[in-house]
Amino acid sequence: KKIVVLMGGPSAEAEVSLNTGKAILAALKEKGYNAEGLELDPHHLVEQLRERHCDIVFNAVHGKFGEDGVLQGVLDMIGIPYTGSGVLASAVTMDKVVSKNIFMARGISTPRSKSYLKEDQQRDLVKEIMQEFSLPVVVKSAAQGSSIGVSIVEKQANLQQALVTAFEYSHDVLIEEFIKGRELTVAVWGNSADKTALPIIEIVPHSGTYDYQSKYTKGATEYIVPANLDAAITKSVQELAVRTFTAAGCSGIARVDLMLDKDNIPYVLEVNSVPGMTATSLVPKAAQALGIEFPALCEKLLAMVNL
Ligand code: DAL
Ligand code: MG
Repeated sequence: KKIVVLMGGPSAEAEVSLNTGKAILAALKEKGYNAEGLELDPHHLVEQLRERHCDIVFNAVHGKFGEDGVLQGVLDMIGIPYTGSGVLASAVTMDKVVSKNIFMARGISTPRSKSYLKEDQQRDLVKEIMQEFSLPVVVKSAAQGSSIGVSIVEKQANLQQALVTAFEYSHDVLIEEFIKGRELTVAVWGNSADKTALPIIEIVPHSGTYDYQSKYTKGATEYIVPANLDAAITKSVQELAVRTFTAAGCSGIARVDLMLDKDNIPYVLEVNSVPGMTATSLVPKAAQALGIEFPALCEKLLAMVNL
């Protein structure tokens, strides 16, 4: 079977995606698969896949088109199976506002939030937010990854600029209460019949904030895996991650990002349906804690594709 590893694309995370894609391609080749890399060129994708006699797409495109259901829809139409979630789960999880509405409707604990549209900027949003929340708040673009467009606002004077930055990247913006505590992430893999949480990772960025820099600079962040949590909390966080994966309708693999507050109450922040697989990324670390090296992880993700 011919596997095409699709990477790049038009999002602000294109560079991250190229690193994810190259790592996956090298791993598949090491395992002896007939695999080729391809940078996503939206207008020529279908013909390029045909020219390559593609049987399966290994999706390494983060963000716009790759993680939001668009690519998944095109591949469904032309009948090429692919790794990861389908159209709806991808669209839902790419949008932080929509996914939070689903979490709330399905009883998944998540920080209190409000969302605003670009049009709402005609009102005094700073005043409205200050009436609704106490600082700090987290200001996020609805449809970005890798913390692009995200600000943690501690002073009212910085709120306006944070809104402008977030609106640069999407039509809606999410304001979320800031949960002070420990930052955790849990990868979940499987399909509707059988889902498993991988070991929990605790993220300790040296700068204090897990932003783009802390995510992709080697040595900038300490990762503790498995996270040092007592057995009952570990179990409840892993169960919450699996419930979140199910609530969002994910398949294959996804990574659920959470905060654990000082009373050990977990709050789900978001789900990443095409999690990073770069040298500093989290999912490969969680798999490694189970003794699964990166090439075997890629092989497993391939084996979960519905052929
Ligand atoms: N959005 C990045 C790639 C991640 O979730 O790993
Ligand atoms: Mg994300």
